[in-house]
Amino acid sequence: MRLRGKVALITGAGQGLGAEIARRYVREGARVFLADVNGELAATTAAQIADSARSEGSASEVFGDSGAPVEPIVLDVTSEPDWIAAIRTVREKAGRIDVLVNNAGINIRRDIEDMPVESFDAMYAVNVRGPFLGIKHVLPVMKVGGGGVILNMASICGLVGHKFTNEAYTTTKGAVTLLTKSIASRYAAANIRCNSVHPSTVDTPMLQTVLTDPEKRAERYGEIPLGRLASTDDVASAFVFLASDEASFINGVAFPVDGGLTAW
Ligand SMILES: NC(=O)c1ccc[n+]([C@@H]2O[C@H](COP(=O)([O-])OP(=O)(O)OC[C@H]3O[C@@H](n4cnc5c(N)ncnc54)[C@H](O)[C@@H]3O)[C@@H](O)[C@H]2O)c1
Repeated sequence: MRLRGKVALITGAGQGLGAEIARRYVREGARVFLADVNGELAATTAAQIADSARSEGSASEVFGDSGAPVEPIVLDVTSEPDWIAAIRTVREKAGRIDVLVNNAGINIRRDIEDMPVESFDAMYAVNVRGPFLGIKHVLPVMKVGGGGVILNMASICGLVGHKFTNEAYTTTKGAVTLLTKSIASRYAAANIRCNSVHPSTVDTPMLQTVLTDPEKRAERYGEIPLGRLASTDDVASAFVFLASDEASFINGVAFPVDGGLTAW
């Protein structure tokens, strides 16, 4: 188990990539606080993950028969009071936070010429202000605990201009890339590592409107040198590695999980 005993808070984990990261973290022995703005989704996903961890035996191996390997938390990442409350809850229940995964993100698919400023602001609120607030409030906890790991979900759009993606989303992910590097260079002295992960297209609920359109689906497959989409498992594997002690000298990296899309 590569994350045995670590305490992790994962945002936007009610479905999609966040849920898969939560599932893998529990399997690797972490205690996970599964946060989402949609409390019902968080509760259902947490219960499913806990059930499968119990049937696999991974939870009882780490937490004993009574321990909870995963607990839901209602957290709107755009809200500073929500962050304060969520981090207080994790501290009260687990005593510390070893890993923060800033995964929650949205994409309102409009080209710059048709993008209402309210939609631009909404994307910035979730994709940039969310990680910013999470980092702001977790740093003091990690410092007291002697260190930690912060992982930010970016995208290939945080590395390159992507012809199928709108400008507003792309700039939010660019901001995440440099927020990551700023934290990595300024908080390493406190034994806090910070890295970002940059997936290409993954088949999650976020991509349903794109992937059900045959033309757009073909475009997304056609752009990947390895000839397939990323799986949620491909992406979660990067998050497991970067949170683990195997990555203890990896800091400030923008880690693509993209089948070679940005390799040119
Ligand atoms: N799916 C892809 O192709 C892809 C590729 C690259 C990067 N990403 C990034 O991965 C992350 C997850 O994407 P996904 O595809 O799993 O999306 P998704 O839409 O399937 O899931 C996102 C989750 O975030 C939650 N959420 C939305 N707003 C929130 C808020 N304000 N506070 C807390 N939770 C909130 C939603 O309720 C949902 O459960 C996002 O940051 C996205 O930009 C996705």
